Amino acid sequence: MPSFPRYRPRRLRRTEALRALTRETSVGPEHLILPLFVQPGRGLRKPVPSMPGVAQTSVDEAVRDAEEALSVGVPAVILFGIPESKDERGSEAWHEDGIVQTAVRTLKTALPELLVVTDVCLCEYTSHGHCGIVRDEQVDNDATLEVLARVAASHGAAGADIVAPSDMMDGRVGAIRQRLDEEGRTHVAVMSYAAKFASAFYGPFRDAAGSAPQFGDRRGYQMDPANGDEALREVWLDIEEGADIVMVKPALPYLDIVRRVKEETGYPVAAYHVSGEYAAIMAAADRDWLDGARAMREALVSIRRAGADIIITYWARQFARTLSHSQ
Ligand code: PBG
Repeated sequence: MPSFPRYRPRRLRRTEALRALTRETSVGPEHLILPLFVQPGRGLRKPVPSMPGVAQTSVDEAVRDAEEALSVGVPAVILFGIPESKDERGSEAWHEDGIVQTAVRTLKTALPELLVVTDVCLCEYTSHGHCGIVRDEQVDNDATLEVLARVAASHGAAGADIVAPSDMMDGRVGAIRQRLDEEGRTHVAVMSYAAKFASAFYGPFRDAAGSAPQFGDRRGYQMDPANGDEALREVWLDIEEGADIVMVKPALPYLDIVRRVKEETGYPVAAYHVSGEYAAIMAAADRDWLDGARAMREALVSIRRAGADIIITYWARQFARTLSHSQ
């Protein structure tokens, strides 16, 4: 590599046109998925205090949000359900007329071109708030697989394009793939939360989804933040079981994992810029401690630079809106 003064990096930073010409990474609305929290009712929109700009809505309002996202180029939403009632086994999660199933059908009818992704998990539906079937205060892995397959199948039957298991049970991708195939839904893709870490950054989400565990924590099934090699094993396991897209979550504290997963697998990689990452930037921006929109753009481009193809972000609409205004 040449040295100074032959090489002057600043020569290509002189104007925005030069910077744009030599920019290595782009992030556009086409890379983004917008999370939506849906609940029963009509005309409801309840803001989530710890996530400014995010609300729990009824399905009719979710259609408006999705339509607006589509209109600025965001192709996909991921749905989280807030059910009317919870029980030990999370049975609202696979109900044919459950909140997510209803939302999927309504969204696909109103906006056929919208990609509808569903989060497949039990924590929003169980009275204890854990992501699976609990026996003796432990989540029973193998007993949970059958239930998750049922949930995913019900989402597929409602018309979901992609199902996204976020529970971190071992073997769930295989169980879900097999059930979808048996029911003739070979076209439904699986985006697995493959390397999902036991993170403090999920705090605001648990308010939004009402899914905090009532006892203990999730460290018995979600990953230890210290482990990178194990993340790769988790990812390979899910690919071997039939995952089409693999996800790393959270995003910014785990960009090294995003990069390794992309390089070592070559699979489509999604990164979830989670609720706490979003809330931290929004809270600082609210105090004028930083420029929120700039910080958010920087976060998103960094996640893409690390190797993510897809970013799940609560900022999707605002981001896409500012792009469409600047054109
Ligand atoms: C459900 C689930 C969680 C998130 C996505 N799916 C919460 C958790 O594991 O506690 C977190 C998303 C976010 O924080 O934005 N298991």
